[in-house]
Amino acid sequence: MFSDIATPTLARQGRQWIAWAGQQMPVLRLIKERFQRTRPLRGVRIGCCLHVTSETANLLLTLKAGGAHVALAASNPLSTQDAIAASLVRHCNIAVFARRGEHRSRYYAHLRSVLAIRPHITMDDGADLISALHREAHPRDDVLGGTEETTTGVMRLRSLERQGRLRFPIIAVNDANTKHLFDNRYGTGQSTIDGILRATNTLIAGTRFVVCGYGWCGRGIALRARGMGAHVIVTEVDPTKALEAVMDGFEVLPMARAARAGDIFVTATGNTHVIRGAHLQQMRDGALLANAGHFNVEVDVATLQRLSRRRRVVMPNVEEYQLRNGRRLYVLGEGRLVNLACAAGHPPQVMDMSFANQALACEYLVSHARQLARRVYAVPAPLDALVAQLKLKALGMTIDRLTPAQTQYLASWDVGT
Ligand code: NAI
Repeated sequence: MFSDIATPTLARQGRQWIAWAGQQMPVLRLIKERFQRTRPLRGVRIGCCLHVTSETANLLLTLKAGGAHVALAASNPLSTQDAIAASLVRHCNIAVFARRGEHRSRYYAHLRSVLAIRPHITMDDGADLISALHREAHPRDDVLGGTEETTTGVMRLRSLERQGRLRFPIIAVNDANTKHLFDNRYGTGQSTIDGILRATNTLIAGTRFVVCGYGWCGRGIALRARGMGAHVIVTEVDPTKALEAVMDGFEVLPMARAARAGDIFVTATGNTHVIRGAHLQQMRDGALLANAGHFNVEVDVATLQRLSRRRRVVMPNVEEYQLRNGRRLYVLGEGRLVNLACAAGHPPQVMDMSFANQALACEYLVSHARQLARRVYAVPAPLDALVAQLKLKALGMTIDRLTPAQTQYLASWDVGT
Protein backbone atom coordinates (compact mmCIF):
# COMPACT_ATOMS: atom_id res chain seq x y z
CA MET A 1 0.00 0.00 0.00
CA PHE A 2 1.25 3.48 -0.89
CA SER A 3 2.22 5.50 2.21
CA ASP A 4 4.88 7.99 3.29
CA ILE A 5 6.09 7.60 6.86
CA ALA A 6 9.41 8.24 8.58
CA THR A 7 10.31 5.17 10.62
CA PRO A 8 8.61 1.85 9.78
CA THR A 9 10.76 0.10 12.41
CA LEU A 10 8.80 1.84 15.20
CA ALA A 11 5.62 -0.07 14.36
CA ARG A 12 5.78 -2.39 17.39
CA GLN A 13 6.04 0.52 19.82
CA GLY A 14 3.18 2.26 18.01
CA ARG A 15 0.97 -0.80 18.38
CA GLN A 16 1.52 -0.80 22.15
CA TRP A 17 0.58 2.88 22.43
CA ILE A 18 -2.51 2.39 20.29
CA ALA A 19 -3.64 -0.53 22.46
CA TRP A 20 -3.00 1.47 25.65
CA ALA A 21 -5.08 4.42 24.41
CA GLY A 22 -7.79 2.05 23.19
CA GLN A 23 -8.25 0.69 26.70
CA GLN A 24 -9.18 4.20 27.89
CA MET A 25 -11.70 4.83 25.09
CA PRO A 26 -14.78 2.79 26.06
CA VAL A 27 -17.34 4.86 24.14
CA LEU A 28 -15.43 4.57 20.90
CA ARG A 29 -15.02 0.85 21.57
CA LEU A 30 -18.80 0.41 21.90
CA ILE A 31 -19.29 2.25 18.61
CA LYS A 32 -16.62 0.09 16.99
CA GLU A 33 -18.35 -3.09 18.13
CA ARG A 34 -21.65 -1.87 16.69
CA PHE A 35 -19.94 -0.78 13.47
CA GLN A 36 -18.40 -4.25 13.14
CA ARG A 37 -21.87 -5.78 13.27
CA THR A 38 -23.79 -3.28 11.12
CA ARG A 39 -21.06 -1.94 8.74
CA PRO A 40 -22.70 1.51 8.25
CA LEU A 41 -19.63 2.85 6.39
CA ARG A 42 -19.32 -0.03 3.93
CA GLY A 43 -17.58 1.20 0.78
CA VAL A 44 -17.21 4.77 2.08
CA ARG A 45 -13.83 6.44 1.46
CA ILE A 46 -12.81 8.75 4.31
CA GLY A 47 -9.91 11.17 3.86
CA CYS A 48 -8.53 12.27 7.24
CA CYS A 49 -6.26 15.15 8.18
CA LEU A 50 -5.76 14.68 11.92
CA HIS A 51 -2.95 14.69 14.47
CA VAL A 52 -1.27 11.30 14.12
CA THR A 53 -1.65 10.05 17.69
CA SER A 54 -2.67 6.81 19.40
CA GLU A 55 -6.21 8.18 19.92
CA THR A 56 -6.55 9.01 16.24
CA ALA A 57 -5.43 5.48 15.41
CA ASN A 58 -8.32 4.14 17.49
CA LEU A 59 -10.74 6.38 15.59
CA LEU A 60 -9.44 5.11 12.25
CA LEU A 61 -9.79 1.50 13.41
CA THR A 62 -13.40 2.26 14.34
CA LEU A 63 -14.12 3.73 10.90
CA LYS A 64 -12.46 0.73 9.30
CA ALA A 65 -14.55 -1.63 11.42
CA GLY A 66 -17.59 0.14 9.97
CA GLY A 67 -16.44 -0.79 6.46
CA ALA A 68 -14.72 2.46 5.48
CA HIS A 69 -11.57 2.79 3.42
CA VAL A 70 -9.41 5.34 5.25
CA ALA A 71 -6.33 7.43 4.42
CA LEU A 72 -4.58 9.75 6.89
CA ALA A 73 -2.36 12.82 6.65
CA ALA A 74 -1.11 14.90 9.57
CA SER A 75 -2.93 18.10 10.53
CA ASN A 76 0.26 19.71 11.83
CA PRO A 77 3.87 19.18 10.77
CA LEU A 78 5.05 18.67 14.37
CA SER A 79 2.22 16.62 15.89
CA THR A 80 2.93 13.30 14.18
CA GLN A 81 4.03 10.40 16.36
CA ASP A 82 6.09 8.38 13.89
CA ALA A 83 5.55 5.15 15.81
CA ILE A 84 1.78 5.47 15.43
CA ALA A 85 2.09 6.17 11.72
CA ALA A 86 4.27 3.07 11.36
CA SER A 87 1.84 0.80 13.19
CA LEU A 88 -1.15 2.07 11.23
CA VAL A 89 0.63 1.14 8.01
CA ARG A 90 2.16 -2.16 9.18
CA HIS A 91 -0.57 -3.60 11.39
CA CYS A 92 -3.77 -1.89 10.30
CA ASN A 93 -3.29 -1.64 6.56
CA ILE A 94 -4.16 2.07 6.58
CA ALA A 95 -2.48 4.48 4.17
CA VAL A 96 -0.63 7.17 6.15
CA PHE A 97 1.15 10.22 4.78
CA ALA A 98 2.86 11.89 7.72
CA ARG A 99 6.36 12.41 9.02
CA ARG A 100 7.12 14.38 12.17
CA GLY A 101 8.89 17.63 11.27
CA GLU A 102 7.86 17.55 7.61
CA HIS A 103 8.28 20.78 5.65
CA ARG A 104 5.38 22.73 4.26
CA SER A 105 5.74 21.38 0.72
CA ARG A 106 5.65 17.76 1.93
CA TYR A 107 2.76 18.57 4.28
CA TYR A 108 0.69 19.73 1.31
CA ALA A 109 1.89 16.83 -0.87
CA HIS A 110 0.56 14.53 1.85
CA LEU A 111 -2.83 16.26 1.78
CA ARG A 112 -2.92 15.71 -1.98
CA SER A 113 -2.18 12.00 -1.45
CA VAL A 114 -5.22 11.77 0.83
CA LEU A 115 -7.39 13.65 -1.66
CA ALA A 116 -6.22 11.21 -4.32
CA ILE A 117 -8.35 8.45 -2.74
CA ARG A 118 -11.33 10.61 -3.81
CA PRO A 119 -12.91 10.74 -0.35
CA HIS A 120 -16.67 10.64 0.12
CA ILE A 121 -16.12 12.18 3.54
CA THR A 122 -13.35 14.54 4.64
CA MET A 123 -12.34 14.62 8.29
CA ASP A 124 -10.30 17.65 9.29
CA ASP A 125 -8.59 19.15 12.31
CA GLY A 126 -8.02 22.74 11.26
CA ALA A 127 -9.65 22.60 7.79
CA ASP A 128 -6.44 22.27 5.76
CA LEU A 129 -7.72 19.25 3.81
CA ILE A 130 -11.03 20.90 2.93
CA SER A 131 -9.22 24.12 2.05
CA ALA A 132 -6.96 22.20 -0.34
CA LEU A 133 -10.01 20.56 -1.86
CA HIS A 134 -11.76 23.93 -2.24
CA ARG A 135 -8.74 25.30 -4.09
CA GLU A 136 -9.13 22.66 -6.79
CA ALA A 137 -10.43 24.11 -10.04
CA HIS A 138 -13.24 21.60 -10.49
CA PRO A 139 -15.74 20.75 -7.78
CA ARG A 140 -15.96 17.02 -7.05
CA ASP A 141 -19.37 15.43 -7.17
CA ASP A 142 -18.51 12.41 -5.04
CA VAL A 143 -17.97 14.20 -1.70
CA LEU A 144 -20.91 13.66 0.64
CA GLY A 145 -19.68 15.97 3.38
CA GLY A 146 -17.00 16.66 5.93
CA THR A 147 -16.40 16.83 9.64
CA GLU A 148 -14.27 19.35 11.54
CA GLU A 149 -12.57 18.71 14.86
CA THR A 150 -11.37 22.10 16.12
CA THR A 151 -12.43 25.70 16.78
CA THR A 152 -10.09 27.21 14.20
CA GLY A 153 -11.28 24.77 11.52
CA VAL A 154 -14.93 25.58 12.25
CA MET A 155 -14.12 29.31 11.98
CA ARG A 156 -12.50 28.78 8.57
CA LEU A 157 -15.41 26.69 7.32
CA ARG A 158 -17.96 29.25 8.54
CA SER A 159 -15.98 31.83 6.56
CA LEU A 160 -16.29 29.65 3.42
CA GLU A 161 -20.01 29.26 4.14
CA ARG A 162 -20.49 33.04 4.53
CA GLN A 163 -18.80 33.60 1.18
CA GLY A 164 -21.19 31.07 -0.40
CA ARG A 165 -18.24 28.91 -1.44
CA LEU A 166 -18.70 25.85 0.76
CA ARG A 167 -19.10 22.90 -1.60
CA PHE A 168 -20.66 20.32 0.77
CA PRO A 169 -22.18 20.07 4.26
CA ILE A 170 -19.94 20.04 7.32
CA ILE A 171 -20.56 18.66 10.78
CA ALA A 172 -18.79 20.85 13.34
CA VAL A 173 -17.70 18.17 15.80
CA ASN A 174 -15.89 20.83 17.86
CA ASP A 175 -19.23 22.43 18.73
CA ALA A 176 -20.68 19.29 20.34
CA ASN A 177 -20.90 19.74 24.11
CA THR A 178 -19.22 16.39 24.61
CA LYS A 179 -16.29 17.71 22.57
CA HIS A 180 -15.31 21.25 23.56
CA LEU A 181 -16.42 21.10 27.19
CA PHE A 182 -13.99 18.26 27.82
CA ASP A 183 -11.39 18.06 25.04
CA ASN A 184 -10.70 21.78 24.69
CA ARG A 185 -10.92 22.48 28.42
CA TYR A 186 -9.55 19.48 30.29
CA GLY A 187 -7.59 17.94 27.42
CA THR A 188 -5.79 21.13 26.39
CA GLY A 189 -5.53 22.24 30.01
CA GLN A 190 -3.63 19.15 31.11
CA SER A 191 -1.63 18.42 27.96
CA THR A 192 -0.43 22.02 27.56
CA ILE A 193 1.11 21.89 31.02
CA ASP A 194 2.48 18.45 30.10
CA GLY A 195 4.11 19.90 26.95
CA ILE A 196 5.74 22.75 28.88
CA LEU A 197 7.04 20.37 31.53
CA ARG A 198 8.36 17.75 29.11
CA ALA A 199 10.19 20.43 27.12
CA THR A 200 11.65 22.36 30.04
CA ASN A 201 11.11 20.52 33.35
CA THR A 202 10.44 23.98 34.79
CA LEU A 203 8.73 24.61 38.14
CA ILE A 204 5.27 26.10 37.61
CA ALA A 205 4.67 26.94 41.29
CA GLY A 206 5.32 30.59 42.06
CA THR A 207 5.52 31.70 38.43
CA ARG A 208 3.46 34.43 36.81
CA PHE A 209 1.72 32.41 34.13
CA VAL A 210 0.01 34.39 31.37
CA VAL A 211 -2.84 32.74 29.47
CA CYS A 212 -3.90 34.62 26.33
CA GLY A 213 -7.54 33.89 25.55
CA TYR A 214 -10.11 32.69 28.10
CA GLY A 215 -12.15 30.45 25.82
CA TRP A 216 -12.54 26.72 26.30
CA CYS A 217 -8.82 25.97 26.01
CA GLY A 218 -7.68 29.03 27.94
CA ARG A 219 -9.99 28.22 30.86
CA GLY A 220 -8.54 24.73 31.08
CA ILE A 221 -4.95 25.95 30.94
CA ALA A 222 -5.56 28.68 33.54
CA LEU A 223 -7.26 26.20 35.86
CA ARG A 224 -4.43 23.70 35.68
CA ALA A 225 -1.68 26.33 35.99
CA ARG A 226 -3.36 27.67 39.13
CA GLY A 227 -3.63 24.12 40.44
CA MET A 228 0.15 23.86 40.17
CA GLY A 229 0.68 27.02 42.18
CA ALA A 230 1.12 29.66 39.49
CA HIS A 231 -0.19 33.19 39.74
CA VAL A 232 -2.32 33.23 36.58
CA ILE A 233 -2.82 36.35 34.48
CA VAL A 234 -5.40 36.28 31.68
CA THR A 235 -5.54 38.48 28.58
CA GLU A 236 -8.75 38.77 26.55
CA VAL A 237 -10.50 40.89 23.93
CA ASP A 238 -14.02 39.81 24.84
CA PRO A 239 -15.43 41.76 27.82
CA THR A 240 -17.65 38.88 29.00
CA LYS A 241 -14.83 36.35 28.94
CA ALA A 242 -12.59 38.86 30.74
CA LEU A 243 -15.22 39.28 33.46
CA GLU A 244 -15.55 35.53 33.74
CA ALA A 245 -11.80 35.27 34.26
CA VAL A 246 -11.94 37.99 36.95
CA MET A 247 -14.73 36.21 38.80
CA ASP A 248 -12.93 32.89 38.47
CA GLY A 249 -10.24 34.62 40.52
CA PHE A 250 -7.63 35.46 37.88
CA GLU A 251 -5.84 38.75 37.27
CA VAL A 252 -6.82 40.24 33.90
CA LEU A 253 -4.42 42.56 32.12
CA PRO A 254 -3.93 43.92 28.60
CA MET A 255 -1.12 42.11 26.80
CA ALA A 256 1.17 45.15 26.92
CA ARG A 257 1.20 44.95 30.74
CA ALA A 258 1.08 41.16 30.97
CA ALA A 259 4.19 41.06 28.75
CA ARG A 260 6.22 42.84 31.42
CA ALA A 261 4.80 40.70 34.24
CA GLY A 262 4.92 37.14 32.96
CA ASP A 263 7.40 34.30 33.34
CA ILE A 264 5.49 31.80 31.17
CA PHE A 265 3.16 32.75 28.30
CA VAL A 266 0.65 30.45 26.62
CA THR A 267 -1.56 31.60 23.75
CA ALA A 268 -4.90 29.84 23.15
CA THR A 269 -6.94 32.26 21.06
CA GLY A 270 -7.20 30.91 17.51
CA ASN A 271 -6.08 34.41 16.51
CA THR A 272 -2.93 35.79 14.92
CA HIS A 273 -0.01 37.78 16.42
CA VAL A 274 -1.46 37.86 19.90
CA ILE A 275 2.10 38.18 21.19
CA ARG A 276 3.98 40.48 18.80
CA GLY A 277 7.07 42.67 18.55
CA ALA A 278 6.14 45.37 21.08
CA HIS A 279 5.27 42.69 23.65
CA LEU A 280 8.37 40.60 23.01
CA GLN A 281 10.62 43.58 23.64
CA GLN A 282 9.03 44.12 27.06
CA MET A 283 9.47 40.57 28.34
CA ARG A 284 11.76 39.50 31.15
CA ASP A 285 14.97 37.62 30.58
CA GLY A 286 14.23 33.88 30.53
CA ALA A 287 10.52 34.09 29.69
CA LEU A 288 9.00 30.94 28.15
CA LEU A 289 6.64 31.25 25.18
CA ALA A 290 4.26 28.49 24.16
CA ASN A 291 1.19 28.26 21.96
CA ALA A 292 -1.78 25.94 22.40
CA GLY A 293 -3.89 27.42 19.57
CA HIS A 294 -4.22 25.53 16.32
CA PHE A 295 -1.79 27.41 14.07
CA ASN A 296 1.71 28.74 14.74
CA VAL A 297 0.64 32.34 14.19
CA GLU A 298 -0.31 33.34 17.74
CA VAL A 299 3.26 34.18 18.75
CA ASP A 300 4.89 36.29 16.03
CA VAL A 301 8.03 34.17 15.80
CA ALA A 302 9.15 35.84 12.54
CA THR A 303 9.34 39.21 14.29
CA LEU A 304 11.05 37.62 17.27
CA GLN A 305 13.67 36.35 14.88
CA ARG A 306 14.13 39.84 13.43
CA LEU A 307 14.47 41.34 16.91
CA SER A 308 17.09 38.79 17.89
CA ARG A 309 20.81 38.85 17.44
CA ARG A 310 21.15 35.12 18.02
CA ARG A 311 19.01 32.02 17.91
CA ARG A 312 19.96 28.50 18.97
CA VAL A 313 18.34 25.23 19.91
CA VAL A 314 19.16 24.68 23.57
CA MET A 315 17.25 21.40 24.00
CA PRO A 316 14.80 19.41 21.90
CA ASN A 317 11.74 21.61 21.36
CA VAL A 318 13.32 24.65 23.07
CA GLU A 319 14.80 27.52 21.03
CA GLU A 320 16.57 30.43 22.65
CA TYR A 321 16.24 33.85 21.04
CA GLN A 322 18.65 36.45 22.35
CA LEU A 323 17.17 39.89 21.75
CA ARG A 324 19.28 42.92 20.89
CA ASN A 325 18.40 44.24 24.36
CA GLY A 326 20.31 41.24 25.75
CA ARG A 327 17.30 39.35 27.13
CA ARG A 328 16.71 35.72 26.21
CA LEU A 329 13.28 34.36 25.32
CA TYR A 330 12.56 30.64 24.90
CA VAL A 331 10.06 29.40 22.31
CA LEU A 332 8.69 25.89 22.80
CA GLY A 333 7.88 23.61 19.87
CA GLU A 334 8.51 26.37 17.28
CA GLY A 335 5.31 28.08 18.45
CA ARG A 336 3.20 25.15 17.25
CA LEU A 337 0.61 23.40 19.45
CA VAL A 338 2.77 22.82 22.52
CA ASN A 339 0.73 19.88 23.79
CA LEU A 340 1.30 17.92 20.58
CA ALA A 341 4.72 19.21 19.56
CA CYS A 342 6.27 18.69 23.02
CA ALA A 343 4.00 16.02 24.53
CA ALA A 344 1.56 13.34 23.39
CA GLY A 345 -1.53 15.54 22.99
CA HIS A 346 -4.81 15.03 24.79
CA PRO A 347 -5.38 12.03 27.03
CA PRO A 348 -7.46 9.23 25.48
CA GLN A 349 -10.24 9.66 28.06
CA VAL A 350 -11.31 12.97 26.47
CA MET A 351 -10.53 11.96 22.90
CA ASP A 352 -12.92 9.06 23.52
CA MET A 353 -15.80 11.54 23.42
CA SER A 354 -14.42 13.75 20.65
CA PHE A 355 -13.82 10.79 18.38
CA ALA A 356 -17.10 9.11 19.30
CA ASN A 357 -18.69 12.27 17.88
CA GLN A 358 -16.50 11.96 14.76
CA ALA A 359 -17.51 8.35 14.17
CA LEU A 360 -21.21 9.09 14.72
CA ALA A 361 -20.97 12.19 12.49
CA CYS A 362 -19.61 10.03 9.64
CA GLU A 363 -22.45 7.55 10.05
CA TYR A 364 -24.91 10.46 10.08
CA LEU A 365 -23.41 11.97 6.92
CA VAL A 366 -23.73 8.67 5.07
CA SER A 367 -27.45 8.50 5.79
CA HIS A 368 -28.36 12.21 5.77
CA ALA A 369 -25.89 14.13 3.58
CA ARG A 370 -28.25 14.23 0.58
CA GLN A 371 -30.80 16.14 2.67
CA LEU A 372 -28.26 18.67 3.98
CA ALA A 373 -27.41 22.03 2.43
CA ARG A 374 -23.88 23.36 1.88
CA ARG A 375 -23.67 24.63 5.44
CA VAL A 376 -21.87 24.07 8.71
CA TYR A 377 -24.11 22.00 11.00
CA ALA A 378 -23.90 21.14 14.67
CA VAL A 379 -23.62 17.51 15.68
CA PRO A 380 -27.29 16.48 16.06
CA ALA A 381 -28.22 16.94 19.74
CA PRO A 382 -29.36 13.32 20.24
CA LEU A 383 -25.93 12.06 19.13
CA ASP A 384 -24.15 14.51 21.44
CA ALA A 385 -26.40 13.37 24.33
CA LEU A 386 -25.80 9.72 23.44
CA VAL A 387 -22.04 10.22 23.76
CA ALA A 388 -22.54 11.72 27.25
CA GLN A 389 -24.81 8.85 28.29
CA LEU A 390 -22.38 6.22 27.05
CA LYS A 391 -19.46 7.93 28.77
CA LEU A 392 -21.31 8.09 32.09
CA LYS A 393 -22.22 4.43 31.73
CA ALA A 394 -18.63 3.52 30.95
CA LEU A 395 -17.56 5.38 34.09
CA GLY A 396 -20.05 3.26 36.05
CA MET A 397 -22.13 6.29 36.99
CA THR A 398 -25.89 6.69 37.11
CA ILE A 399 -27.88 9.89 37.40
CA ASP A 400 -31.46 10.75 38.32
CA ARG A 401 -34.36 10.76 35.88
CA LEU A 402 -37.16 13.30 35.80
CA THR A 403 -40.38 12.03 37.33
CA PRO A 404 -43.49 12.48 35.14
CA ALA A 405 -44.63 15.26 37.49
CA GLN A 406 -41.28 17.05 37.10
CA THR A 407 -41.40 16.76 33.31
CA GLN A 408 -44.88 18.23 33.34
CA TYR A 409 -43.86 21.03 35.77
CA LEU A 410 -40.89 22.06 33.64
CA ALA A 411 -43.14 22.29 30.58
CA SER A 412 -45.88 24.33 32.31
CA TRP A 413 -46.54 28.02 32.98
CA ASP A 414 -49.53 27.99 35.29
CA VAL A 415 -47.97 27.02 38.62
CA GLY A 416 -46.26 30.08 40.13
CA THR A 417 -46.00 31.60 43.61
P1 NAI B 1 -12.65 29.90 21.99
O1 NAI B 1 -13.31 30.61 20.88
O2 NAI B 1 -13.49 29.20 23.02
O3 NAI B 1 -11.66 30.88 22.76
C1 NAI B 1 -10.77 31.75 22.18
C2 NAI B 1 -10.71 32.99 23.06
O4 NAI B 1 -9.62 33.80 22.64
C3 NAI B 1 -11.98 33.84 22.99
O5 NAI B 1 -12.46 34.05 24.30
C4 NAI B 1 -11.49 35.13 22.34
O6 NAI B 1 -12.19 36.27 22.82
C5 NAI B 1 -10.02 35.16 22.75
N1 NAI B 1 -9.18 36.00 21.90
C6 NAI B 1 -9.25 36.19 20.56
N2 NAI B 1 -8.29 37.05 20.18
C7 NAI B 1 -7.60 37.41 21.29
C8 NAI B 1 -6.50 38.27 21.55
N3 NAI B 1 -5.91 38.96 20.57
N4 NAI B 1 -6.05 38.38 22.83
C9 NAI B 1 -6.65 37.70 23.83
N5 NAI B 1 -7.69 36.88 23.65
C10 NAI B 1 -8.17 36.73 22.39
O7 NAI B 1 -11.65 28.85 21.31
P2 NAI B 1 -11.01 27.53 21.94
O8 NAI B 1 -11.92 26.38 21.73
O9 NAI B 1 -10.52 27.84 23.29
O10 NAI B 1 -9.78 27.30 20.93
C11 NAI B 1 -8.67 28.19 20.91
C12 NAI B 1 -7.63 27.68 19.93
O11 NAI B 1 -7.13 26.43 20.38
C13 NAI B 1 -8.15 27.40 18.52
O12 NAI B 1 -7.14 27.67 17.59
C14 NAI B 1 -8.45 25.91 18.54
O13 NAI B 1 -8.52 25.36 17.24
C15 NAI B 1 -7.28 25.42 19.34
N6 NAI B 1 -7.41 24.14 19.99
C16 NAI B 1 -6.22 23.53 20.31
C17 NAI B 1 -6.22 22.31 20.91
C18 NAI B 1 -4.93 21.66 21.22
O14 NAI B 1 -4.87 20.44 21.28
N7 NAI B 1 -3.89 22.42 21.47
C19 NAI B 1 -7.48 21.60 21.24
C20 NAI B 1 -8.67 22.37 20.95
C21 NAI B 1 -8.61 23.59 20.35
